Amino acid sequence: SALSQNKLLAQKDGFRFFMEKEIYEQSVVISDTLMGRLREDEVVFDELDSTLFDGINEIKLCACGTSYHSAMSASYLFERYSKIKTSLEIASEFRYREPIMTKDTLFVAISQSGETADTLETLKMAKAAGLKTLVICNVDNSSMVRVADAAILTRAGIEKGVASTKAFATQVVVFWMLSLYVAKLKGSLTKMEIAAHISTLREVPSHVKVDDEMHERIKRVSKRYLHGHGFFFIGRDIFYPLALEGALKLKEISYLHAEGYPAGEMKHGPIALADPELFTIALLPKHLHYEKSKSNVEELSARDSTICAISQIPFDKADDFIEITTCESYMLEFFEMMVVVQLLSLEISIRLGNDVDMPRNLAKSVTVE
Ligand code: G6P
Repeated sequence: SALSQNKLLAQKDGFRFFMEKEIYEQSVVISDTLMGRLREDEVVFDELDSTLFDGINEIKLCACGTSYHSAMSASYLFERYSKIKTSLEIASEFRYREPIMTKDTLFVAISQSGETADTLETLKMAKAAGLKTLVICNVDNSSMVRVADAAILTRAGIEKGVASTKAFATQVVVFWMLSLYVAKLKGSLTKMEIAAHISTLREVPSHVKVDDEMHERIKRVSKRYLHGHGFFFIGRDIFYPLALEGALKLKEISYLHAEGYPAGEMKHGPIALADPELFTIALLPKHLHYEKSKSNVEELSARDSTICAISQIPFDKADDFIEITTCESYMLEFFEMMVVVQLLSLEISIRLGNDVDMPRNLAKSVTVE
């Protein structure tokens, strides 16, 4: 009815879809997630007992979907900053592959809902094997929060769009903080290094604010990318999980075929697909392996793939260039580019006439196997 239509519009605060609203909310929910957790040179989690990491030599991360991608970015951060061995598992695989679990491992489940059946089951398995368990979750009192020994809540608020955006953003923020928390315990970063990270963390909310001009630019760019035979989102290091997440967003809401790929791996197969109908979305951070990533994109450009480059450095081999705000840290570039890939998927999906918030065949929370 007209009344319920109006109500819905009000809930969306004038945005076309909840997903769009949630992309715009990221700045606020990231601030909420940081709140009370940052001191000048240390991260504090009141909800954690610092003995949680006693005797721990490995972190094992386990999740599904978007949460798996935030976990993958965490695996880079834990090894780089906390110098702790980190492994990564897809929950539905972990459950049935007879994994070896040792008690010096902290098992970390990641879930927006806290109810995903496969992830919940792995958490129970880890607990039964005597491992310490932690959950990074957006829903207090959810099944996973109740099962795990410890929980850190992302404070993304209720996420309605089936395609996760703000939950992902807050998960990565929590992982970044947690990697610093562990770095302090292990002494793998100096106080000064941690302090520098913390001041960068404080800048994240302003870097995920959607700039109108940038959104307009993405709307315009999106029209070239509606009818190709496939997308490759490519990046290196933590920009690889971001590439995976960008491709997942696009698949979920546009029904176009998209893959995330490590930029350096394209030459081992996928480059054979390159032609003008193959769309490459290139993540080119200035502050992390720039030259290497750039040369991978040049190879694709030379083979005529249509290229959309996202960077703070203008890239002349690209058909489209989306410029992010100047930033001095690759972590800030990560969050800037995250917003770009989210908006690009949104705009492509809207142009194709899809219902962004209710993609076909998908559910917000998968509580069956
Ligand atoms: C479903 C949703 C995804 C989500 C995944 C894991 O597939 O459609 O958006 O990433 O479940 O959900 P969780 O709540 O465990 O993070």
